[in-house]
Amino acid sequence: MERWRGKWALVTGASSGIGWALAEQLAAQGTNLVLTARRADRLARLADDVTTRYKVQTQIFAADLARPQAPGEIFRFTNQKGLPIELLINNAGFGAYGEFRKIEAQRLLDMVQVNVASVVHLTHLFLPPMVERRSGYILIVASTAAFQPVPYISTYAATKGFDLLFAEGLAEEVRRYGVRVCALCPGSTVSEFNEVAGQPAHLLRAQEPNEKVARVGLEALAAGKSRVISGTRNWLSVEGQRLAPRRLVTRVAARMFMPPQ
Ligand SMILES: NC(=O)c1ccc[n+]([C@@H]2O[C@H](COP(=O)([O-])OP(=O)(O)OC[C@H]3O[C@@H](n4cnc5c(N)ncnc54)[C@H](OP(=O)(O)O)[C@@H]3O)[C@@H](O)[C@H]2O)c1
Repeated sequence: MERWRGKWALVTGASSGIGWALAEQLAAQGTNLVLTARRADRLARLADDVTTRYKVQTQIFAADLARPQAPGEIFRFTNQKGLPIELLINNAGFGAYGEFRKIEAQRLLDMVQVNVASVVHLTHLFLPPMVERRSGYILIVASTAAFQPVPYISTYAATKGFDLLFAEGLAEEVRRYGVRVCALCPGSTVSEFNEVAGQPAHLLRAQEPNEKVARVGLEALAAGKSRVISGTRNWLSVEGQRLAPRRLVTRVAARMFMPPQ
């Protein structure tokens, strides 16, 4: 991670969980940060903390990625400040647990905007300068939910499936321009995710610390991998499921995730 010392990284969803940990670890290696999320107070606290501890430069930009204009605003902000973004970390995202028909349509559409459309838009904006410089890194936070359908978080799993396929495809497209793209696939991780998604506590399997997940993602990105699953147990579970018929896997997931009737 020494390679990013003195460079600028943009981290979305930096106000909490995995994004906060990614930002901290990059700062610890001397990377300057543009931090974005909706909660500006949290971003300011993180910026103060890493500036004091690691003597890096930071900028914060509060934005709601459910607004289609937000990626363009973030891009203009970095351009106006003259900050060349060497690392784009597409981390912001959220889920919504329950029967699809009972979840408010706007919440699902916002999820698609944040988890999918804003990832495509930010990547489309920040990639060309990287290609021009023949140097750049893009991390896209997907999930182990990306590898199979997951009833009762169907929309969320589908957004993460998109993120995974997008990252892997793009990684091959841009490798020849010196740009690396990697999908980080965490399993259950300590963060505010479950609270925001409204997932009941009994669905919480062994959670990984967000610091560990962040380290796995940054190391895989630096190593030029196009995807990484955090944790051996998560890796075994994903790879094991490939051997079983998809319909069976989906039915088992439905039984696990079904809300009490
Ligand atoms: N935790 C898990 O078990 C797990 C597992 C697999 C994948 N993931 C993925 O990991 C990523 C990070 O999630 P986390 O676990 O760290 O959860 P988290 O603690 O809830 O953090 C989510 C981050 O996304 C930001 N965000 C959410 N909606 C946003 C919006 N409309 N506009 C801008 N920013 C928004 C939040 O910031 P504000 O609320 O301040 O806007 C927050 O910083 C997500 O993509 C998630 O899908 C998590």
